[in-house]
Amino acid sequence: MKIFIDSADIKEIRDVASWGILAGVTTNPTLVSKTGRPLRDCIAEIVEVVEGPVSVEAISPDADGMVKEAREWAELDRNKVAVKIPMGVEGLKAVSRLAKEGIMTNVTLVFSPNQVLLASRAGATFVSPFIGRLDDISHDGMEVVRDAVALIEYYDFSTQVIAASIRHPLHVVEAMRAGAHIATVPYDVLVKMVRHPLTDTGIKKFYDDYQKIPKK
Ligand code: E4P
Repeated sequence: MKIFIDSADIKEIRDVASWGILAGVTTNPTLVSKTGRPLRDCIAEIVEVVEGPVSVEAISPDADGMVKEAREWAELDRNKVAVKIPMGVEGLKAVSRLAKEGIMTNVTLVFSPNQVLLASRAGATFVSPFIGRLDDISHDGMEVVRDAVALIEYYDFSTQVIAASIRHPLHVVEAMRAGAHIATVPYDVLVKMVRHPLTDTGIKKFYDDYQKIPKK
C-alpha cells in the first residue's frame, strides 16, 4: 500500500518527503484554506516538491467547468496532477472526458460501493472512499474500502483505491488489511505511525547499555 499525505502544508509535506516513504499528496479546499496561501502558489510548490501524484480539487458545479479547471491544473504537470472530482452525475461526465484526454482524476466524497463502481466505469484514475466521515455517522467506513478493492479486482478495473478521511493509525492498518492501493494520511497520524513505546524504551536501554561497554 502506497502512502500519500493528506495536507496542503508545505512544511509537513517536505518533512514527510524526507522520510523516503511519500508517494503522493491529496489536498482539498479546507486544507488549502488552513495554509492562508493562494491556491495556485500552494499547489505549484507541492507539485515541485513531491515525486508522485498531487490531487487538487475542482470546484465547478458542472462538467464543463470541471474539465476546464482540470486542463488548467494539468498545465502545471500533467504527469503529476490528479484532479479531484466530486462524485455526482456532472462529476462522472467530467471524469470520462478527462480520461479520454489522459488527465488523471481522483473521484472524491465517495461513500458507497455503487459510487466506486460508477467512478471506475467512468475511467477514474483514483477513487477515494472517506472512512472517517462514515465512522462519524456510525457506519463502517472501512467496509466501503473492502468492497471497493474487491469489486475493482473482480471486474479488473484499473482504478486505484485511496483510503481517505483517515483519523488514526488503526485506520491505516485496516486499510492495509482491506488491500487499499493507497492510504492518504494526515501528518499527525503519520507521526503516530512511526512511534511505539517499546521502540522508545528499547532505544534508551541499548543507548544506556552501550555506555557501560568498556571503551578498550
Ligand atoms: C481526501 O482526499 C480528503 O482530503 C480527506 O481525506 C478528507 O478527510 P476529512 O474527512 O478528515 O476531512
